[in-house]
Amino acid sequence: MTIAIRDARLTDAAAILDIYNHEVLHGSATFDVEPRSLDQQQRWLTERSGGHVVLVAEIDGHLAGFGSLSAFKQRAAYRTTVENSVYVAAEHQRQGVGRDVLAELIVRARLHGFHSVIARIAGSNAGSVALHQAAGFRVVGVEREIGRKFGRWLDLTEMQLML
Ligand SMILES: CC(C)(COP(=O)(O)OP(=O)(O)OC[C@H]1O[C@@H](n2cnc3c(N)ncnc32)[C@H](O)[C@@H]1OP(=O)(O)O)[C@@H](O)C(=O)NCCC(=O)NCCS
Repeated sequence: MTIAIRDARLTDAAAILDIYNHEVLHGSATFDVEPRSLDQQQRWLTERSGGHVVLVAEIDGHLAGFGSLSAFKQRAAYRTTVENSVYVAAEHQRQGVGRDVLAELIVRARLHGFHSVIARIAGSNAGSVALHQAAGFRVVGVEREIGRKFGRWLDLTEMQLML
């Protein structure tokens, strides 16, 4: 099985949307509770360019996962830091897709001269914490019960990779 990583195109929006909305509706990896529309997903893609990249992972031409680097915060002095995300389709988890997407996001973050990458991991997401830890991220803090979804409190674990 070969995992191919490439830059996302606007035509990937529907496949990215499927993966993301599955997490919105069934998981706690995102604090979103309402599914995104295709229009919103396309806008999310067009808003990212250059160092704020979106990558997709393909297995046999099928989109199996995606990841992104986004502005960490809007105020200018934060511009040397990016926030990453990684989402893998349920049927392709634990096949190395998340690891490959995250590895390439880190390559891109270095290439664009960012100083650090932040991962903000919602809920008790041991898989995501382990994935980021294996890539060199370290936990820098936990915000307790900062969100609420499916009638449960959500913590948010912040991890950071210094580049
Ligand atoms: C978390 C997620 C991105 C991991 O991606 P993945 O492709 O399934 O993970 P990989 O197969 O690349 O795993 C790489 C390493 O991460 C760790 N890991 C991944 N999933 C894990 C899990 N469920 N439990 C424990 N460790 C896990 C392991 O160290 C693993 O290495 P190993 O398989 O050699 O043990 C994926 O499960 C996912 O998309 N989940 C839903 C959305 C989500 O939580 N996104 C993260 C938002 S912060």
